[in-house]
Amino acid sequence: MDDNTADHVGISSQVCKERQSTWSREFPSINKGTFSISCVRDTPFNVVIRGVDSSGKFVTGYWIALAIRRNCASFLVNVNGKIQRVAKVTEQTQTKAIGYEAGRRITYWLSFDRDNKLLKFGKGYRMKETTLLKADFKKVAATNDVFNHMFFSSDNRKWIDQYDSANFTTNLERRSLDYGTAEVTFDSEPVTTNRSPIVRDSELANMFDIERGCFTFSSDLPLPCQTLYNNVKASHMTIHSAGSPSEKNNLIDAIRRSIESDEGVLHRKLLEKQEKSRGVFNEMYLRVTLGQNFGNSPGIPYVLEIWPKGHGSPIHSHGNAYGVIRVLHGGIRVHIYNNDAMDRNQQPLTSFDAVKGDITWLSPKWFQTHRLWNDTDDFCATLQCYKYGEEDDTHCPYFEYVSKTNEIGQFMPNSDFSFLEMYQLVMAEYQVKTKENNKKKHECTVM
Ligand SMILES: [Fe+2]
Repeated sequence: MDDNTADHVGISSQVCKERQSTWSREFPSINKGTFSISCVRDTPFNVVIRGVDSSGKFVTGYWIALAIRRNCASFLVNVNGKIQRVAKVTEQTQTKAIGYEAGRRITYWLSFDRDNKLLKFGKGYRMKETTLLKADFKKVAATNDVFNHMFFSSDNRKWIDQYDSANFTTNLERRSLDYGTAEVTFDSEPVTTNRSPIVRDSELANMFDIERGCFTFSSDLPLPCQTLYNNVKASHMTIHSAGSPSEKNNLIDAIRRSIESDEGVLHRKLLEKQEKSRGVFNEMYLRVTLGQNFGNSPGIPYVLEIWPKGHGSPIHSHGNAYGVIRVLHGGIRVHIYNNDAMDRNQQPLTSFDAVKGDITWLSPKWFQTHRLWNDTDDFCATLQCYKYGEEDDTHCPYFEYVSKTNEIGQFMPNSDFSFLEMYQLVMAEYQVKTKENNKKKHECTVM
């Protein structure tokens, strides 16, 4: 029997054997939330949602299940012993991989939205773009009180169980999940809508902003991002504000000249980095660090990044850190990828432009994997800042990136210059060049 055809037989038999699941947990909030499991799977599995009665026993005859198979996924419902498939998606109808992906570590997630009576299944980050399957129960819940009570009421708690189903022909073998490497998480919020990557200061928000949903308000940022945001939001946190009054307006010209001139210190640093990493030349940018590392971020937390025109980064993620990015000069295109990005040429989930003054953010759940690219005709400067979350007990010091051979590499976010060092070097270059130009002008005038 094909493992894509016998979903309900297997699940039904498994669920009858109470406590036979490989993983079981109560919903943290009553009948809503998002379950996710990151693991390497090479066999089918089911995720089953069922209730408990007032005496704490599992309710029999009623459950909802997500069945993940080799190349498809389905939602199935058992109503008083009658099992029906209510939604299915296969790889024949999609360009994406729908079922389990043998040999790859994948995050499979299931969202249960009690209030909207909507179930979703997806892979990777929890976004509209990563959602693969939906089952909408609004109509049936509106006309069937028993159904609504059993699955979507807020007065009886649900449990979520994960079952393995390796071989249906021998009737539901239960195999143990590799707990050693599987990572299970459970959020109290279902997947509803995307967050905006662009931050709007809450003090400047208006009703149109709320209505349009184009921004994430600063007070709604995750706490580590709020801290970072508050440290970089000041009006004088601009590249123009650096230096003495006579110098400050020249810093942008000085940086531009240093990038574009063959003898410029920034140009030479870009060449040196390319030679050392043997990477792709236009996947180079400069990291100019500010201040000290306090031990709560990957590398020094505040970094001025300089992106020459036509340059960008490879696809990379940030070691599960929180981050805030303020564009100080020019503009940059941000491409967002899923957490299993493996191909440097793959299409992003979504992209947006950030220009001078914009502030964007990232967290372990949102916008963590990205690629920044400067397609403008001038350099771009961004102020990037990072912080580990309070819940982070790993403090991964590395960022991960997709190499030019499509392998996952790690890099330590280090420093090409300190800010003061870079400032003094480029301004010294600029002053020498300015003097030379003035001298030439003077000679031309005299002649
Ligand atoms: Fe980044």
